[in-house]
Amino acid sequence: MRQPAQARSESALRLSGTVGANKVMEAELLRLVKRSPFEVRVPRPTRQGSAALRYAFEPAIAWVAACYHRSASRIGWEIASSPAVRLEPLVADWVPLLTADERLPRGRSVDFSVHVRDVDDFEAGLLQVRGAVKSALEEAFRQRGGTGSVEAEKPELEFNVRRVGREGERRTLLSLDIGGGSRHYRGQRVAQGAAPLRETLAAQLIQLARWMPHAEPLVDPMAGSGTIAIEAAMLARGFAVRQPRDLPRLSAFEKLPEEAPPLYPDTRPAILASDIDETCVAWMIGNLRAAGLTGRAAESSIVVRSIDVAELTPSALAEILPDGPHDRGLFAFNPPYGERMQTRDQVLPLYRDLGRALKRFDGWRAAVIVANEEFADAFNARPSMAKPTIASGLRAQFLVFDLGRQTGRPARRS
Ligand SMILES: C[S@@+](CC[C@H](N)C(=O)[O-])C[C@H]1O[C@@H](n2cnc3c(N)ncnc32)[C@H](O)[C@@H]1O
Repeated sequence: MRQPAQARSESALRLSGTVGANKVMEAELLRLVKRSPFEVRVPRPTRQGSAALRYAFEPAIAWVAACYHRSASRIGWEIASSPAVRLEPLVADWVPLLTADERLPRGRSVDFSVHVRDVDDFEAGLLQVRGAVKSALEEAFRQRGGTGSVEAEKPELEFNVRRVGREGERRTLLSLDIGGGSRHYRGQRVAQGAAPLRETLAAQLIQLARWMPHAEPLVDPMAGSGTIAIEAAMLARGFAVRQPRDLPRLSAFEKLPEEAPPLYPDTRPAILASDIDETCVAWMIGNLRAAGLTGRAAESSIVVRSIDVAELTPSALAEILPDGPHDRGLFAFNPPYGERMQTRDQVLPLYRDLGRALKRFDGWRAAVIVANEEFADAFNARPSMAKPTIASGLRAQFLVFDLGRQTGRPARRS
């Protein structure tokens, strides 16, 4: 039996990411708010699984997250939830809650979209859930003295629906997207290869490895379209992912700034993005330009080259990045997994070459995202950190290695 009393209005700020993203997302938000113009304390979040954080809603914190947060895939403001798993009870639960919700516009026309995900335990299909939630919203906007209509392209409001919570306490959750949709769409990638990395994963990789942009260079030796290098430059400067004008017009944000300038404008990181494939160089330059990282404004902290990683040596790197310290640094990359163009075995010699080449860099670290469980063995080093994730729909791992002769295992005969 459905229990209508259990449907409720919700109000948490919700950061969702890929599996295992919670720790990095939490640390990133703390850092951003600390650096922001606001004197607010970030409350402790509650965790929902390993991929979502919920915070008591505070407009300034929500604004900072929506503008600057780089590792979250979506940022939402929870609106309503219900234990219902059938369409009619869900609509019956939500219409009165939405009608009474003063966060939603009143007395005017609104266009909106509804995205539904992860509703496997709902007793209706995805499209039916979407249709029911759309009807509930239309009815609520009507009862609030206006009209609501669905608009797929650039709607004023985007709603997300998903089932959340532990077994036995599952609820259907409606949240309002306040982070400008899927955040890996940064608007900074105009060209890409066959296997580009999601920007949100790149941001996670760099933060997991605790890169220090003031104190160490970052090198992506197999950069493809340059995603990791671009994310690194943006993280180092504290560039916004979204400007306030990209966020929904909400009364909660009314008194907050109209611009989101870089938080660390003076940081000048030293970054090399390199790939064996020369066509990648043109892609990278196009993407750097789209990201606003070329010309005087950026003072070109990213150098682009075409090099076989097997030929990378500390002295060659010192010539390419003359200003950076050379006794420490971070390699951050995602190698081919052997899923698309090659088989899993065919990429093992490349991993071995990589291991041999990077071991020359005593005192450096390597942060890798890879969906091939034989990587560490072929690379011939023991990771100091290993964390499961999902990349391109595959079970993958973030791995961090301390490089150098003393930390690698003795070379195995191949
Ligand atoms: C999975 S892709 C990297 C994608 C990249 N992170 C992005 O977001 O576009 C792997 C890249 O490794 C490069 N690569 C393969 N062998 C290499 C080698 N020996 N040296 C340097 N790059 C290599 C490929 O050309 C390819 O662009």
